[in-house]
Amino acid sequence: MKKGFLVSLFLVFTLIVSACSSNTSTNEGGEKTSEGGGDKTAALDIFSWWTGAGEEDGLKALIALFEEKHPEIPIENAAVAGGAGTNAKAVLASRMQGDDPPATFQVHGGAELNEGWVAAGKMETLNDFYEAEGLLDKFPQDLIDMVSKDGNIYSVPVNIHRGNVLWYNKKVFEENGVEAPTTFDEFFEVADVLKEKGITPLALGDKEPWTASHLYETVLLGVLGAEDYGKLWTGEVAFDDPKVVEAAETFKKMLSYINDDHSSRNWQDATQLVANGEAAMNIMGDWAKGYLVNDLKLKVNEDFGYIATPGTDGQFMVITDTFGLPKGVDNPEGVKQFLSVLASVEGQDAFNPLKGSIPARVDSDVSKYDQYGQDTIEEFKSAELAASLAHGSAAPEGFVTKVNQNINIFVTQQDVDQFTESLTSAASELN
Ligand code: GAL
Repeated sequence: MKKGFLVSLFLVFTLIVSACSSNTSTNEGGEKTSEGGGDKTAALDIFSWWTGAGEEDGLKALIALFEEKHPEIPIENAAVAGGAGTNAKAVLASRMQGDDPPATFQVHGGAELNEGWVAAGKMETLNDFYEAEGLLDKFPQDLIDMVSKDGNIYSVPVNIHRGNVLWYNKKVFEENGVEAPTTFDEFFEVADVLKEKGITPLALGDKEPWTASHLYETVLLGVLGAEDYGKLWTGEVAFDDPKVVEAAETFKKMLSYINDDHSSRNWQDATQLVANGEAAMNIMGDWAKGYLVNDLKLKVNEDFGYIATPGTDGQFMVITDTFGLPKGVDNPEGVKQFLSVLASVEGQDAFNPLKGSIPARVDSDVSKYDQYGQDTIEEFKSAELAASLAHGSAAPEGFVTKVNQNINIFVTQQDVDQFTESLTSAASELN
């Protein structure tokens, strides 16, 4: 047979198969939508970056719960490795652009969702879903606002991570007679004592640059306070404001206390330095607790302690992982079933104790959480909230990428003037 004939045969076959498996319809604007049925038993590919150490346990528990409740709907765990979505976000973008959305995907509430996928017209609204499931009063209004645009709701929060946490090795602190620092002055005093003793004061693993951006945003919050920090994203506070420059100076000073091999480590490797006592402190979101407890088998308040990062007591850097319904998926009803399990008390309490985060729901079972979780649930109720930049809530993806690039340069060159100029110019696109 001729090769050309075989190719045509293959193409015809592919067209028939895709015509049979396509369950999407096209709306008046010519866009693919997920309305109108679909294949109620089609597999759901759940897209996230939760793979490996400290990341995947919560997701696996949630999937197991779903499978128990819906054995008729197969699940594919389509996670792509890399902290903070380093690789997953690019894979997702190409799938979305190619009209091949995952059944549902991890997306941060705030700009990443609203200015990203919602603004691009890629998401279904979930107003009816929230109403039907009785969810409107089950999440804090601040969180509902983070997953809403122009009065419509677009995703369901599975958790709330706190970004501004300083983790410390209890034994190292006790042996060296130092206490957990609450201010930058105290931080530098403690760091000097430890450095003198040959212990790395602060662990960093910025092989993926977002970890340095994460550290930087906690310094911004600590120096500016939640109110002025929030004004950075509306343009009311400029990146060359004296306070922001002060934050850059403070950040630079902190960098003089980190491990030499920071650029070859990821966040887990940096957390490990604190776990084994080579370093004393680490500033990381509370997914680090999932890693310390589930993977390294350490105990909260025995092996490691936690405190708000310097200057941020009573403030809460919010990072909420959410899942929505993309337009054009094969099994929209199945996705809604998954979102329903994810939104339930049972789902949230299966996921969050393992993930290190607190439940997004207000009525979860607090007894399922360890001391860290219980403290953080309480703290969230009264804290001033701030949206994370490093994790995509405060500003659109394009700006976050520029910040990561500039932070990466700053960590090496430590030139405050140049850093300030670059961020000021990048921020001119924000408003
Ligand atoms: C964040 C995400 C967390 C955690 C972390 C490290 O962006 O919200 O759930 O996975 O990245 O990968």
